[in-house]
Formats: sequence, structure tokens, C-alpha cells
Amino acid sequence: MIIATASDHGGFQLKEAVKEHLKSRENVEVLDLGTFSEESVDYPQYGEACARAVAEGKADLGIVCCGTGIGISIAANKVKGVRCALAVTPFMAEMAKRHNDANVLALGGRVLEEEEALRLVDIWLDTDFEGGRHQRRVDRLNDL
Ligand code: RB5
Repeated sequence: MIIATASDHGGFQLKEAVKEHLKSRENVEVLDLGTFSEESVDYPQYGEACARAVAEGKADLGIVCCGTGIGISIAANKVKGVRCALAVTPFMAEMAKRHNDANVLALGGRVLEEEEALRLVDIWLDTDFEGGRHQRRVDRLNDL
């Protein structure tokens, strides 16, 4: 599975930690779309890059990070076919996949401790989409 990652400067350190963490998982290849330093950049560019990689099939899933996770998730959700979910608790990370089939996870580097954030990544990756009535809702999201 290919997982695309992207962040602005506010999420850079967390993105690096996520990348390192993903290496410890089996069958995961990381496609890092930047940013590559803590120099100030604009999060829409990076949210778009990750979202396009997922929407175009260059990656199976994406993880985006900014300071809060908010701006970069808004950017990612502008790309058709992307369902980007901002998670700050384990329950949100689980439901993002189980009910919303989120194909991009957004995390806030200035919100979460690194350990908490990596736990959310694992929960999201290890949870399956439930389908059923949720498929109908996800289909409607895709039609928007
Ligand atoms: C950058 O300072 C900050 O605004 C950004 O990382 C993010 O939190 C935006 O939503």
C-alpha cells in the first residue's frame, strides 16, 4: 500500500514522525510530497498535492499535517474523490474509517503529542470501512 504524506511547516515535525512510524508497518510505502523543512509555506498547496495523489490513484491513502490539521484538511477536501477527516481522538480516527471511509487523515502537529498522533494513525489504518448504510452516505459525499 502506498501512503502519501504532506504537511506545512506547522505539521512538518509530525509528518516526519508519521513517516518514520509508517516504516515500522508491513507493506507500506511512503510517498512524501513535502514540505521538507520548517520554513514557512502555505498549507493549501500541500493539502492539494496529497489529495490529488490519492484521487489520481498514485497513493492508496494520504496523511496530511498542519498546525491544527484544519487548514490542510479543508484544502484536501476540495479535491473530488477525497474524504479527508481531521481526528483528535482515537474514537474519531476509528469512525473516520469505519463510517466515513476517509481516504485521507488530517492531524494537528500543534494539537497532539507525537505518541497520541501515531496511535491515531494506527487506529485509522487498522480499522475497516463498515459499508452497508454507510456506503450510501459515502456515495452521496462522492456525488457532491
Ligand atoms: C500555520 O501557521 C498554521 O496556520 C497552519 O499550520 C494550520 O494550523 C492551518 O490550519
